[in-house]
Amino acid sequence: MSNKTNQQWGGRFSEPTDAFVARFTASVEFDQRMYLQDIQGSIAHAKMLTAAGVLTDAERDDIIRGLGEIRVEIERGTFEWSIALEDVHMNIEAALTQKIGITGKKLHTGRSRNDQVATDIRLYVRTEIDRILAEISRLQQGMLSLAEREVDTIMPGFTHLQTAQPVTFGHHVMAWFEMLSRDYERFVDCRKRVNIMPLGAAALAGTTYPIDRNMTCELLSFSAPAGNSLDAVSDRDFAIEFCAASSILLMHMSRMSEELVLWASAQFDFINLPDRFCTGSSIMPQKKNPDVPELVRGKSGRVYGHLMSLLTLMKSQPLAYNKDNQEDKEPLFDTIDTVNGCLRAFADMVPALESRKDSMRNAAMRGFATATDLADYLVRKGVAFRDAHEIVGKSVAFGIAEGRDLSEMTLVELQQFSAEIDADVFEVLTLEGSVAARDHIGGTAPNQVRAAVVRGHELLATRGDVA
Ligand code: ARG
Repeated sequence: MSNKTNQQWGGRFSEPTDAFVARFTASVEFDQRMYLQDIQGSIAHAKMLTAAGVLTDAERDDIIRGLGEIRVEIERGTFEWSIALEDVHMNIEAALTQKIGITGKKLHTGRSRNDQVATDIRLYVRTEIDRILAEISRLQQGMLSLAEREVDTIMPGFTHLQTAQPVTFGHHVMAWFEMLSRDYERFVDCRKRVNIMPLGAAALAGTTYPIDRNMTCELLSFSAPAGNSLDAVSDRDFAIEFCAASSILLMHMSRMSEELVLWASAQFDFINLPDRFCTGSSIMPQKKNPDVPELVRGKSGRVYGHLMSLLTLMKSQPLAYNKDNQEDKEPLFDTIDTVNGCLRAFADMVPALESRKDSMRNAAMRGFATATDLADYLVRKGVAFRDAHEIVGKSVAFGIAEGRDLSEMTLVELQQFSAEIDADVFEVLTLEGSVAARDHIGGTAPNQVRAAVVRGHELLATRGDVA
């Protein structure tokens, strides 16, 4: 490496880059994680240049061999990354030239770092989306097995976090499943716009070499070459969309986390989180803290932040590439790492959740959860709904005063509020009767939850990523 100026662009410079500026403008510390994509892109580019008559077969083979060796060195940890060489692209290109000589300098023909970096990021995000999709499916698989075990487990359903109506735990878990199905679709949809190839746009206007963009596109398994060179090098919509899909996923996971944290408390006592997903306190020996869901809940914040970073990064940028865009990587990569970590933790933890059936049931018994069932019963007997509402309200007030649930009152006690009430009322006042009566698609009746689980298995089977 020449000390005077950067060897890859230093021709027109009369003094070396200021040492601080070199560090300030370098991205190699964080963009080296795209080394594989950079090498794949370069191999495809070299093959295309050869087909176009720009490189000879021997030159192409030297380039491919040299890049292969570099890959091995990087993966063994023996590759020497240099801040002076700015980024992953110039580090690899300089190493190639050192290895194979002058031919290494020909690789960059008809290409710019602007289309190179945009191509690398898209390849990288594409790989990560595929991993995320598989991990969402693994988590959903875990939800199905939990829901299956819990189809008959009765718990209170909440609105305003107040006991509303009884539901089954399986039904609640299948609500999470629905959220994740939408997340899955969002990532699949995002992938379509990630999978467009910038390579060939060069710096901004295209290139004078007879390049074959369809060939590189096919070699790199992109669905199409980008249709406009200016847009190709400057577009980061795909990164924003990725962070948006990630934000919604993390929002869902923060909601699930909040429920798990509440339910694991002594006050709710609805679930046991296996010890391996919890930690203790250094001062309070009795503590078992639900760290995993707490952290996932917290990590949603940083992913939202990254979405805002990228939107703000792109705001008002004139066409085409601007150095600002180097700032796309850290938010994007941290989003990827965060999503991977959260999904992995949840996919391991969710199928291992243990319900505390007695506590759930007792909680459902406490909040007059079958009050709506009594009102519906009265309506079936000919009482207008508003009058039924009033009758049940009075029955509940009586229950509160007596410390008893509706199902624990005698027929005579209930009849003081309405003469329409008969002995058959107790069928609807039990928790089992209440959930079983909500027997339609999407309802909480155990046989409907069983059907939802079957549909869930069918859905996962249509995906290519389920192990
Ligand atoms: N490291 C740069 C980035 O991440 C690569 C592209 C730089 N292009 C340039 N002309 N300076 O965006």
